[in-house]
Amino acid sequence: METIIYTIDKDHMDMEKINEAGAILAKGGLVAFPTETVYGLGADAMDGRASQKIYAAKGRPSDNPLIVHICELEDMDRVACHIPESAYKLARAFWPGPLTMILSKGENVPLSTTGGLDTVAVRMPSHPIARAVIKASGTYIAAPSANTSGRPSPTMAEHVIEDMDGKIDMILDGGKVGIGIESTIVDLTGKVPMILRPGYITYDMLTGVLGEVCVDKAILSENADKNFRPKAPGMKYKHYAPKGDLTIVEGTPEHVAERINALCTQAKAQNKSVAVIAARESAGKYHCEHVFSIGSRRNEESIAANLFAVLREMDELHVDVIYSESYYDDGLGQAVMNRLLKAAGHHVINADDETFVGGE
Ligand code: TXA
Ligand code: MG
Repeated sequence: METIIYTIDKDHMDMEKINEAGAILAKGGLVAFPTETVYGLGADAMDGRASQKIYAAKGRPSDNPLIVHICELEDMDRVACHIPESAYKLARAFWPGPLTMILSKGENVPLSTTGGLDTVAVRMPSHPIARAVIKASGTYIAAPSANTSGRPSPTMAEHVIEDMDGKIDMILDGGKVGIGIESTIVDLTGKVPMILRPGYITYDMLTGVLGEVCVDKAILSENADKNFRPKAPGMKYKHYAPKGDLTIVEGTPEHVAERINALCTQAKAQNKSVAVIAARESAGKYHCEHVFSIGSRRNEESIAANLFAVLREMDELHVDVIYSESYYDDGLGQAVMNRLLKAAGHHVINADDETFVGGE
């Protein structure tokens, strides 16, 4: 299939191109477009056969449900039912924006969109291109991140082209996205609202509106995939992992730098190519041929925005071994560490541990 690629300026949208994208979606086709979090791969959420095509293009397991994207608050009542007051409170506080709510599924949403579940994930994005495309389609849009299943989510159209060129009808290139990690998911179908996936809307922001909120134990746990079944089915799959072997090194900054440098020397002696992922403030401490500055510790948003692009660059460099510093795990840092730990398969070394004698 020939994939049409259009560049769209979000401040001066070419409505002819947007309407063409809307028409493809209305006919059951696939269109990738930017959202404020990551690029999404859209299909008509109300047409079971259209949303099934997403699974084929991504190579995604079909029990992994899709998020339904809407562009007006009233649409929430059309795709969900028995909506609790908490959903309206969150919508007023954070929509349009990077928050997904799990609600009871409306009758008209096909089970093939929700992976067979009787709940539905609903999100109203704020990105002007995403909103315009949903509106032009005249329907609601099921959209997972527009990457091949297992790869880092796309934060630039180039990433989408890498994974989806030739497999989908259209890609709208709206430049680099702002946030860079996927939306926060909160489940509102239980007694207490539960965060299933951390994101830009943090725990504190949610408790500020709702009071009590709990967090799915699976989020930062090493045993997420085995012992606790995560409530968001997608959280159980291996995700984001670069092809090289990624290890996170945590501890006091001096010890982390010493340990990573020692590990780099060791890997080089074994003829392995190595890369280091570090904060801007400490990137200069590493003696390694590939050192990637991921962003500033003083600005967690910069780390979130660059994380997936840096993980993809590791694959382009074909490095064998990757060492990454650890980042704060509160606020937005929780979302960053959730993605980084998954990418590393929860392989973490503590550099303050004295027992290191030069061999891991
Ligand atoms: O920021 C985002 O949310 C992006 C953009 C494109 O909007 N979308 C995204 O979709 O990240 P995806 O498919 O990559 O991740 C959706 C996650 C998966 O882990 C899935 O299992 C979970 O949401 N999910 C969807 N419906 C659910 C439901 N009814 N109950 C529990 N989890 C659900
Ligand atoms: Mg995804």
